[in-house]
Amino acid sequence: MAFTDGTADFRSDTVTRPTEAMRQAMANAEVGDDVYRDDPTVNALEEKAAAAVGMQRALFTPSGTMANQIGIHLHTRPGDGVICVPSAHVRKYELGSAAAISGTTFLVVESPDGSMTAAALDTALDPNGPYYNIRPGLLTWENTHNASGGTILSPEVMAKGSAIASERGIPVHLDGARIWNAAAGAGVEVEEWSQHATSMMFCFSKGLGAPIGSMLCGTADFIEEARRVRKRLGGGMRQVGVLAAAAAVAFDERDRLVEDHLLARRLGEGIAARHPDAVDLARVQTNMVRVDGAGLPAGAARFKDDLVAAGILVGFAAQDVLRFVTHRDVNAADVDRVLAVLDSA
Ligand SMILES: Cc1ncc(COP(=O)(O)O)c(C=O)c1O
Repeated sequence: MAFTDGTADFRSDTVTRPTEAMRQAMANAEVGDDVYRDDPTVNALEEKAAAAVGMQRALFTPSGTMANQIGIHLHTRPGDGVICVPSAHVRKYELGSAAAISGTTFLVVESPDGSMTAAALDTALDPNGPYYNIRPGLLTWENTHNASGGTILSPEVMAKGSAIASERGIPVHLDGARIWNAAAGAGVEVEEWSQHATSMMFCFSKGLGAPIGSMLCGTADFIEEARRVRKRLGGGMRQVGVLAAAAAVAFDERDRLVEDHLLARRLGEGIAARHPDAVDLARVQTNMVRVDGAGLPAGAARFKDDLVAAGILVGFAAQDVLRFVTHRDVNAADVDRVLAVLDSA
């Protein structure tokens, strides 16, 4: 449903507002001090999340960034290289946290999307390099891959690449902020990816539509240590069951993500029907649509201005490239409003 003021907000799936069911669950949540592990709502959600991704334990964190950074901190030593694609969220969009908090640097494996081939990883992780090379400490994957438009990482690609890391004793972390979109889009279980990771995180506050919260998942020992690091970073929360309750509602409704994907498809196909070079439909795999201004008559900035005039918000993914994200607070009528703006331009 569009926002009550009539704005259609396609900037991100983080803009959703809690549903009535979420607000009710928050109001009624049974709570305790989670730093003492006394919050039953948090404990139940952590257990449910761990089971759903096929890992031993899980830890509720305020944000995806904190969950990723706890993972990087625990898996690496200062000076280590974190392996990722150039546009990985952990590298480009987390304010240099890995360097600031863990003293790590990045070892970049070139890729047009979130995939890293076995051959490229084999080279990046060459154990016969000179001792003064950066020591690879962690391999990270991102699924779906935000910067390439919500594309789905192939489980086979991840399996092969992770095997190369594991053979060399290098742990694997999966940034699965939108892993439930990947699962819905590919029609497979999250375990298709999580089984190839040492740890993973996913967000309740993205496509799932909760107001806040992420989960870091891994072995029991890893999560025990993660709890200490979370507290060190200021993420020890008290009666946080009020937030976990909303996250639980969002999580239980995750089957609805396919609706967002259908909306993205409707939008992508609608734009492509009018301006075929503006959208690469092969990349519209989940809840994002990238629109290349080079394929529009007057470019991306003009399209954005026209949208704003019609009460529609959208963001830039790159220069002259817009990114539309579908979520539970936009609907088919909002998509059609976007297309109407193109028609009236
Ligand atoms: C792929 C990916 N990882 C991590 C994050 C970080 O999540 P948060 O904004 O909750 O810190 C985001 C946020 O958009 C993301 O897209």
